Amino acid sequence: MIVSARQFDRARRLALSLAGIELLDRHHELLDRRSRRMGIVDAAGFDELLGAAEEGSAVAVQRIIGLFTTKHTGFFRTPRHFEIAAMRALSAAREGRQARFWSAAAATGEEPYSLAMALVEAFGSEDPPATILATDIDVEALACAQRGEYGEASLKALAPARRERFLRQTDDGRRWRIDCAPRRLVEFCAVNLAGAVWAVEGPFDVIFCRNALMYLEASRRQAALERMASLLAPDGLLILDPAEHVGGAGGLFCLEPDGLYTLRRERRPEAFSLTGSCS
Ligand SMILES: C[S@@+](CC[C@H](N)C(=O)[O-])C[C@H]1O[C@@H](n2cnc3c(N)ncnc32)[C@H](O)[C@@H]1O
Repeated sequence: MIVSARQFDRARRLALSLAGIELLDRHHELLDRRSRRMGIVDAAGFDELLGAAEEGSAVAVQRIIGLFTTKHTGFFRTPRHFEIAAMRALSAAREGRQARFWSAAAATGEEPYSLAMALVEAFGSEDPPATILATDIDVEALACAQRGEYGEASLKALAPARRERFLRQTDDGRRWRIDCAPRRLVEFCAVNLAGAVWAVEGPFDVIFCRNALMYLEASRRQAALERMASLLAPDGLLILDPAEHVGGAGGLFCLEPDGLYTLRRERRPEAFSLTGSCS
């Protein structure tokens, strides 16, 4: 193995301090495999990356966050979530307002673009009254999301009619690019869910935070859920993967079927004062 036991302990401390991510013993091999894939060939190379990240080099921090995070995602994972979100947007429109969505662990963009496609379809309009904020800690994944180009493997899960309607083949014919209508709805911004400041302003009708909280250490996960609760509209919806749960934040949310959570009104925390904006 490239990554020694002592190096893994240092990596563990960094994962927790930089991203709130809890690395367990079983992640040692995974980290080793990812390091090789990143082109690190020996312990000295890994040591160099660790040292630079510990000293706060922005490039090294970003690289090592790339090693700590799992970016597995796909178009229309749990399709029902997108139908429900689109229904929320339709009711917001009936109230004469624009719906606001946040994809809080957007990875390479498949989730926010699926939502954008669902909205265009639900409204039968290229310009539905909705906005989607897509954030992630990994800026390389976000850059990929912003490019919005996908290969065949990523597009397998997308119905042919959707590919036809929402993607255009790139000039070299190898990839497919998200078309203007879904793209226009999505805005990208880096946000660390375990960070002190979130450059995010509520309220949101729906927050998607699927398959990310499970990697966070329990107190960071609880803190992130409390802050999300403060950023939801009173009748807003938090969407997790159906296999996830809110753990210690159960007092804030009521579980509905399929990984959907609504706020318990009586336990709604005071709004946090959050600074900054992604615009
Ligand atoms: C498995 S992907 C989930 C993608 C998408 N939500 C889905 O369910 O298909 C997990 C994402 O969480 C992000 N992530 C992990 N820790 C994070 C943190 N502290 N703040 C923000 N994003 C984080 C990772 O970078 C990764 O893109």
